[in-house]
Amino acid sequence: MHQDSHLAPTSDQSAFPGNARTHAPYADALQAAAERDSLFLSTPGHGGTTTGISAGQAEFFGEHILSLDIPPLFDGIDLGVDTPKDEALQLAAEAWGARRTWFLTNGSSQGNRMTALAIGTLGTGVVTQRSAHSSFIDGIVMAGLNPGFVSPNVDEVNGIAHGVTPDSLRHAIASHPEKVTAVYLVTPSYFGAVADVRALAEVAHDAGAALIIDAAWGAHFGFHPDLPESPVTLGADIVIMSTHKLAGSFTQSALLHLGDTEFANRLEPALARAFMMTASTSENAHLLASIDIARRDLVNSHDAISDSLENIRQIRARIEGSEHYHLLSGDFMNHADVVDIDPFRLPIDITSTGLDGHAVRKRLTEDFDIFAEMATSTTIVALIGVGKSPDLSRLFDALDQMRLENNSSETAEATTKPAGIPALPNAGKLITLPRDAYFADSELVSAAEAVGRTSVSSLAAYPPGIPNVLPGEEITAETVEFLQAVAASPSGHVRGAVDPQLSTFRVLKD
Ligand SMILES: Cc1ncc(COP(=O)(O)O)c(C=O)c1O
Repeated sequence: MHQDSHLAPTSDQSAFPGNARTHAPYADALQAAAERDSLFLSTPGHGGTTTGISAGQAEFFGEHILSLDIPPLFDGIDLGVDTPKDEALQLAAEAWGARRTWFLTNGSSQGNRMTALAIGTLGTGVVTQRSAHSSFIDGIVMAGLNPGFVSPNVDEVNGIAHGVTPDSLRHAIASHPEKVTAVYLVTPSYFGAVADVRALAEVAHDAGAALIIDAAWGAHFGFHPDLPESPVTLGADIVIMSTHKLAGSFTQSALLHLGDTEFANRLEPALARAFMMTASTSENAHLLASIDIARRDLVNSHDAISDSLENIRQIRARIEGSEHYHLLSGDFMNHADVVDIDPFRLPIDITSTGLDGHAVRKRLTEDFDIFAEMATSTTIVALIGVGKSPDLSRLFDALDQMRLENNSSETAEATTKPAGIPALPNAGKLITLPRDAYFADSELVSAAEAVGRTSVSSLAAYPPGIPNVLPGEEITAETVEFLQAVAASPSGHVRGAVDPQLSTFRVLKD
C-alpha cells in the first residue's frame, strides 16, 4: 500500500495478550453495574431509570444508555486502586506502545491543551508547526508559551499543508530567540501524509527539546502491518490521538500517550495536573467505555483492516483508471517531509470535471446525502473508517452526474462558478506573545481597518481548523481576503470570527 515501505511494520496481533483481545475492563465493569438493581440517590438526576421526566430520554436514547450513564468514582469501576479503569488504561498503553495513557473525554483538543500546560514546566520556548490545530494555540495562550514556528511543506496548487522535514525543524529551533524546550508537530496530516517521527524526535532531542506529536488522525497506526507505525513507538515523548476520528470510538473521545523516554518521565507529573485542569470532574462513562471497546476492537482488527485495505485498493484502482479523477496521495511521496501515507484517506482531485471542490462537497451533501470530510478548490477528501469497507459507487455516480450536468450548457454557469478561495495566506508577523494579546485591551474595527493591526483572537478556517491568524499576530490584507472568501464559500466557517462574514475583527487597542 505504501509507496515507500522503509518503515518496518511492527504490528503483530499475536503480541497482544489474550485478555487484551477479549476484555474491555472498564466497559465490562460499567455493564455489570448497569445490570444491578441499584437505587441511585445521587447524580445523574435521571438515576438510570426511565420514569417521570426521564421518559423522554429513554424514548430517544433507549433505557440501556441511561443505565450505563454512571458517574465517576464508582465502586467496582474506578474508585480506589487497581480498578477496571486502571486496567483499561494499562491495556490501552500496551496496545499503542505507550508507557502511560490517559483517556480523554474532550477530544484531542483537551490533549493539546493539557500538553501545552505540561510543557510549560520545561520552559516557555516552543517551536510549533504553523499548521497546528487551534486547540494547541489555545494551549499556548493558557500556558503563556513563546512560540516560534516551523512551516509545513505546502502544496500551493491544491491548498494542502503537509508536514515538516527534520532540516526545517532544526532550522526553526536554531532561529528561535528563546531556548526551545519543546517541539509540537502534526502527523499524519489532514490529508493523510505521514512525517518521519523518528528523525524529527532525534532533531528535537539533540536540541534538548521534548517532541509532542499531534496524531489526532492516526489512532489506527500500528494495528496492521500495512499501516504506518504508532508514533508512540518512534521516540515521541507525548502523542495525542482522536480515537473518535477514524478508530471507531464515540465523538469527543481521545487518548494522550506518554512515550518511554526521559522527557516523558519529566513531563508525567505535570501532565497529571494538566489532566485535572482540563477534564470535567464528571467525565462521561459512555465516552470512556467507547475508548475501551475501540481499543479491544483495534487489537482484534487485523482481518477487518485487511478487508478495508483490499476495498481501498479497489477504490484507488477505480480512481486511477478513470480519466476524470485522480488520487492526490499518489503525489504526496514527492514531498520531502512525507515518508508514508495513511491509506484510509482518499484526497480525490476533481479538477478535470471543471467543478469547484467546495461546491461539489456542498452538492454531495444537499443532493446526494453523501458527506465528504472536507474540500479544497481542487479536491474532496473522503475518509474511510478503520475496518470499514463502504461501497463508493454512489460517490462516483454522484460525481459523474455533476460532471455531466456541468458540461450541459444550461447548468454550466451555476455549477462551475468557482468558490474563489485564494491561496493559503502566509502567516503575519508575531508582534506580541499570544497570551499577552489575549488579555490585552481590545477594540472592534472594520476589516479594512484591521489590516496591519494585531489580532487578539485565533481565527481558523474550518475545516481543517488550522488558525490562519493567532492572538498577537499581525492581520494582513491577504489573510482578510482569504478568511472572507472562506466564510462566503458554500461550506465555509471561520472559528473565532466576531461575525460570520468577517466584516469586523477584534484587535489590540492602539
Ligand atoms: C490535527 C488535529 N489536532 C487536534 C484536533 C482536535 O481533535 P478533537 O476534535 O478530537 O478535539 C483536530 C481536529 O480536527 C486536528 O485536526
